[in-house]
Amino acid sequence: MKRHGRWGLVVLFLVGCRAEPTAYERASLTRGGRLYDDWMEERGVTVTQPNPGYALTMGKVTDAPQTWRCTECHGWDYRGVEGAYRTGAHFTGVMGVLHARQDPKEELFEVIKNGIEGEAMSAFGSQAYSDEDLWDLVRFLKEGTVELSLHLDPEGGLLHADAAAGKVLFEQGLPGTDPAKTCVACHGADGKKVNFHEGEAEPEYLGTVAAEDPWEFQHHVRCGHPGGLTMPAFQDLGWTLENVLDVLAFVRTLPAQ
Ligand code: HEC
Ligand code: HEC
Repeated sequence: MKRHGRWGLVVLFLVGCRAEPTAYERASLTRGGRLYDDWMEERGVTVTQPNPGYALTMGKVTDAPQTWRCTECHGWDYRGVEGAYRTGAHFTGVMGVLHARQDPKEELFEVIKNGIEGEAMSAFGSQAYSDEDLWDLVRFLKEGTVELSLHLDPEGGLLHADAAAGKVLFEQGLPGTDPAKTCVACHGADGKKVNFHEGEAEPEYLGTVAAEDPWEFQHHVRCGHPGGLTMPAFQDLGWTLENVLDVLAFVRTLPAQ
């Protein structure tokens, strides 16, 4: 009894000493990814004025909300002007954010909150970001970005991926997955059950995105779709980048139209 009591004290002491998780440790990497994708949609806010920082870039986009998205300047491949946005309608000339992995957390927090004076990087703190939003973004930039040039060539061709393994993942998920949470359940066997374009616009299916924008595809599968709880963040379900790219290879065998 006596010994027991003493161990109890030791345990109490250890529990008492364990530090509270920091704001960074509590942050959600995949929510950070959805904020990076479209923070307005993820947070449910409307922006009507264009991003003044965007006017300092070489970009030609005129849609106001679009000019505020991190992806619009830094890319779905996180490589900015060195990646898929080196040309085309989304060209801005802005650098990527892959090297931010090496930056101290606090520094990234400051940069996103306060911007960079005289540069196109705006102070997102002006858009009523909470500390939680900022830490989620920091966590994504530190741990959630991936070097896709090792897996996709500059035109978006897959360098190595296993479409057969991707088919199994598409239909069944990782072992033990609830059948309702599989790609096939929501997107259908041909990937055409969900049309991402509403109304009159030309339909966009899973196969369309896989063919046209593999960088966006991988980001959406890893982090989910902003503003909705429908499309799961597969990284939170244990998926690796390799799993995602295998599924991409399989989805490329599905109709794009
Ligand atoms: C209008 C274009 C634009 C948008 C939108 C934008 N940025 Fe930037 N960002 C820049 C530019 C330009 C720089 C580089 C400034 C420089 O040359 O020092 C930068 C730099 C950064 C850096 C610093 C990288 C480093 O370590 O040097 C981080 C981190 C960053 N941006 C994150 C974000 C996040 C997160 C978002 C969305 C919330 C975002 N940016 C949206 C243009 C943009
Ligand atoms: C529970 C239903 C559900 C599951 C499971 C699901 N999705 Fe989705 N997915 C959606 C919906 C709905 C959307 C449309 C965006 C939204 O409303 O969230 C979407 C959007 C997407 C997009 C974004 C397209 C774009 O660029 O706009 C991609 C890519 C995608 N899903 C791929 C997949 C893959 C691959 C899987 C399996 C690994 C999967 N989804 C599993 C429901 C689902």
